[in-house]
Amino acid sequence: MDKLVINGGARLEGEIRISGSKNAALPILFAALMAEGDVTLENVPGLRDIHTTLKLLTLLGCESGFKEKNVEIRAGQLTFQAPYDLVRTMRASVLCLGPLLAKIGKAKVALPGGCAIGSRPVDLHLRALEQMGAKFELDSGYIIGNCSKLVGAHIIFDFPTVGGTENLLMAACLASGTTVLENSAREPEIVDLANFLIACGAKIKGHGTSVITIEGVSKLSGCTYRVMSDRIEAGTYMVAGAITKGDVLLTNCPFEELESVIAKLREMGVFIERQKNGVRVKVDNELNCVDVVTLPYPGFPTDMQAQIMALMCASQGSGMVKETIFENRFMHALELIRMGAGIKLSGQTAMIRGGAQLTGAPVMASDLRASASLVLAGLRARGKTEVQRIYHLDRGYESMEKKLSGVGADIWREKE
Ligand code: UD1
Repeated sequence: MDKLVINGGARLEGEIRISGSKNAALPILFAALMAEGDVTLENVPGLRDIHTTLKLLTLLGCESGFKEKNVEIRAGQLTFQAPYDLVRTMRASVLCLGPLLAKIGKAKVALPGGCAIGSRPVDLHLRALEQMGAKFELDSGYIIGNCSKLVGAHIIFDFPTVGGTENLLMAACLASGTTVLENSAREPEIVDLANFLIACGAKIKGHGTSVITIEGVSKLSGCTYRVMSDRIEAGTYMVAGAITKGDVLLTNCPFEELESVIAKLREMGVFIERQKNGVRVKVDNELNCVDVVTLPYPGFPTDMQAQIMALMCASQGSGMVKETIFENRFMHALELIRMGAGIKLSGQTAMIRGGAQLTGAPVMASDLRASASLVLAGLRARGKTEVQRIYHLDRGYESMEKKLSGVGADIWREKE
């Protein structure tokens, strides 16, 4: 197992290129299952979750190749079983449910099970697919779904679930008739998935709003599609620039999609400007703590909560972070406290007393974004920080230590 070692204190200066979005690429890869003909995806990040998905797609009957950010996929004779060994390492595997049911009327997918950031059930996915005519049973830890042909339905989600909206959006493309998804999630990754499906011949309207209408078509064809840039990776490097009082230019960087994050960072005192060749992030003075509440898009993303908490720990004043999307998503807080941060937890709320001098320590990451927040704190801390178990980071950040050392951080990877 690898760890990242950081000697804190260096000011980051220079350019960081943002990779393609993991959370957009994953559903798009699963959607490619349904296409007849070759799909070429550009700007795909080289991450562990992407490799896991390609393995799963191979097991399900697709041929694929990955070369220099481009993935080529051709669906062949599909099978229907997503085994536990792969699903347990990546919850997003549940996204093969909708495409398999739509394409071959059968899916057997291991239940993702418990996850470090809460229970994360898939009941909303299943209930909505049932409304379209699928039947489910649970057998030995597997969800087994069957249907003859999915039929369009009027679905109102209890909660704007990202994965649930994606599963239903994909399934509805090949269903007979019209499907309306109400209270659906509005995340930019859903818009990217819809645009990919449209490029394959799907008929979708309203993506990016809470009501999506899909008119089923008889087949989807292949296409070439460029995946959007990763807004969470970009937000993480904005915080990296800010926490080291640095001056960085993020290229290939989303901007509108990061509005709520940029607004909070500006409120803290960070200079952020969209320039011709990228987004510039600069800090000269001390920053101030703010209050942050995570919400579905366009609210502040839960996937940036851990990172902004690290920044607040190194800022002046006091602030509050309230997590409303996931239970149990404060594990980074306990590790940040070990680095000297002033944090008090009460249920889903963290009170942060800024102004602490962070000091390096061996810390352990429990999930992807928690790991990122510990790296960020390590960049600022006095002395040496060792972030252990970085396989979480490798699931979602492409070459993080290379990108950071490229702008002046003293960071390297070691075998534990
Ligand atoms: C996706 C993202 C993840 C992000 C999250 C919220 C991917 C691969 N992952 O996860 O990075 O943190 O959106 O922005 O894109 N819920 C239910 N029943 C369901 C489905 C969800 O109760 O059937 C609950 C979950 O437990 C959670 C909340 O709804 O509390 C949000 O989950 P959801 O929006 O579905 O997140 P994911 O799609 O899993």
